[in-house]
Amino acid sequence: MILNKEYWENRYQNNDTGWDTGTITPPLKEYIDQIKDKTAKILIPGAGNGHEYDYLIEKGFKNTYVIDIANSPIEMLKSKHKDLHNQIVLDDFFNLTNAYDLIIEQTFFCALEPKLREKYATKMHSLLKPKGKIIGLLFDFPLTTEGPPFGGNTDEYLQLFSSLFTIKKLEKAYNSIKPRQGRELFFIFEKK
Ligand SMILES: C[S@@+](CC[C@H](N)C(=O)[O-])C[C@H]1O[C@@H](n2cnc3c(N)ncnc32)[C@H](O)[C@@H]1O
Repeated sequence: MILNKEYWENRYQNNDTGWDTGTITPPLKEYIDQIKDKTAKILIPGAGNGHEYDYLIEKGFKNTYVIDIANSPIEMLKSKHKDLHNQIVLDDFFNLTNAYDLIIEQTFFCALEPKLREKYATKMHSLLKPKGKIIGLLFDFPLTTEGPPFGGNTDEYLQLFSSLFTIKKLEKAYNSIKPRQGRELFFIFEKK
């Protein structure tokens, strides 16, 4: 199975989107609610149907961008946010070249083939401004050949991110949605 544009587009077209929680998840809402700088340049990669994007825009974070490789969710978001088309991007995350203050991760890392993990860490580092942060959720269950979602654990994440980021937080989320309780870590990594 190749996890390319066609794979993801098919999942959307077949409504096979078990990851989609239908609304912003509590750990991300809580983090967003304490951000004071409404001008922060924010990116949500692999945003899917973009519930976190909707929330950020509603709360006045107008400098927020999404990117996804699948056409359907991007078209859906564009139809909702007609004045923000240049911030809703259909492309491969690995082609991005801008610099952001904050990047929000949720079920994007685990959707990528595990061999891309180092490339993901390096790309995230290059997409952040000095002292910029990547925050969000990473799954905490064993990595096997089965996925997506592909698992991982604290040790693996520390190994992957510690040389490029200061690990401000990496701990079991206390406010996960029910099906993810005990299975995800909330993290804050700051660009070194
Ligand atoms: C499991 S879904 C998660 C969607 C969203 N983050 C959520 O929580 O509902 C993974 C998303 O990543 C997108 N994706 C996969 N590979 C990508 C890539 N290389 N660049 C951009 N988006 C990608 C898929 O199209 C899909 O929307």
